[in-house]
Amino acid sequence: MIQSLRGMNDFLDEQENAKYSYFIQTASRIASHYGFTWIQTPILEETKLFKRSVGESSDIVGKEMYQFLDKGGNDVCMRPEGTAGVVRAFIQKKLDKAGGKHKFFYHGPMFRYERPQKGRLRQFHQFGCESFGLDYVLEDVTMILLIGEIFGALGIPFNLKINSLGCPNCMPAYRQTLVKFVTAQEAQICEDCNRRVGTNPIRVLDCKNASCQIIYKNAPKLIHELCSVCQNDFATLKRHLDQSGFSYEVDTHLVRGLDYYSKTAFEFIAQGIGAQNAIAGGGRYDRLVEFLDGKPTPAVGFAIGIERILDLITLPESIREGYYFGALQAEGISKLFELGQHKRASEKTTIEYEAKSLKNHLKAADKYFARYCVIIGEEELAASEVWVKDLTLKTESKIPWNSL
Ligand code: HAM
Repeated sequence: MIQSLRGMNDFLDEQENAKYSYFIQTASRIASHYGFTWIQTPILEETKLFKRSVGESSDIVGKEMYQFLDKGGNDVCMRPEGTAGVVRAFIQKKLDKAGGKHKFFYHGPMFRYERPQKGRLRQFHQFGCESFGLDYVLEDVTMILLIGEIFGALGIPFNLKINSLGCPNCMPAYRQTLVKFVTAQEAQICEDCNRRVGTNPIRVLDCKNASCQIIYKNAPKLIHELCSVCQNDFATLKRHLDQSGFSYEVDTHLVRGLDYYSKTAFEFIAQGIGAQNAIAGGGRYDRLVEFLDGKPTPAVGFAIGIERILDLITLPESIREGYYFGALQAEGISKLFELGQHKRASEKTTIEYEAKSLKNHLKAADKYFARYCVIIGEEELAASEVWVKDLTLKTESKIPWNSL
């Protein structure tokens, strides 16, 4: 039997799909309230796009890309994340030259050849927002509040971690200080960290190795060596989060796994979903447009990992939709089909062709997330009626066929 590839899932469970659409509807509605419009970019892009944006030193580019030569010999890659493609489209459409602010949201599948485990897939889905043209830290605050509003609307509890990754004025000096510190510990730290010192030293700080982490507790902290602009921005960010009643933790080891960030970096964490508990991440990437040959344009964005939050979403009763039609005896099915088919013209309708007990029909109606369960039994057939249960209000009634 042919199976789906490891780490790649089908979406066919009705409840799961209902949660997925409810999430997309909710997130898109809230993002559009914040001025974002929908963008769709291709899943396949030139490999060099990701090498130059996500970064050669990142695990994503180094180990996890679905990369191949297409039939024309072009080096292409299935997108491992959404930001690079949006930035490419932004430049290709000459929006960088046009100036002004541009805000986009997107959702869709991303591909990373990671070791699959709970919450870590090889094909997963993200909802993301990217904002171009605003270098005010208030836009970073806005991004965080926007994610908070989405999670709030879905009833998802979270913790927020923030950090500042500095800018070209303060980062290089810090990097040197850190390299000095890490090189002095060369014998004690893991192989990966020793490699990272030569590629992207700050990535050592989020090494998963416990013995490395003990050493990095005493590492110099960028947060203490920020230039005055970055320091002010970070203070403003914290002040506005405080004013909004948003609780957060400053995590000086939060460095993110993609190379394009500067200044603000953040991650949203959920409890009780296992080791892979980052449900959203993002930050500022003021130099990426320039790295991809565009006109320098400040930018900030985030992405939410949809699979990681699906289990945390409770669907509101009010989104029950449409009708479920069932018969208690085979004799009722023909009439039931006629009534159900008629309803289909205007409402989402499921018709069960097999006679079943009331209990089983109610169970099935619930599974389909129908609002109304419509039943024909012997009595109803004789009286030209149906029995209807409103599964939201939990009320029952008998309705004549001609007024259904
Ligand atoms: P990221 O932190 O790599 O950031 O991914 C964002 C979210 O996608 C993660 O917090 C997680 O919920 C989910 N995710 C990542 N990898 C997997 C996986 N293998 N399986 C399931 N879920 C996963 C980015 O991708 C950036 N592009 C975010 C961004 C947008 N920064 C600025 N703009």
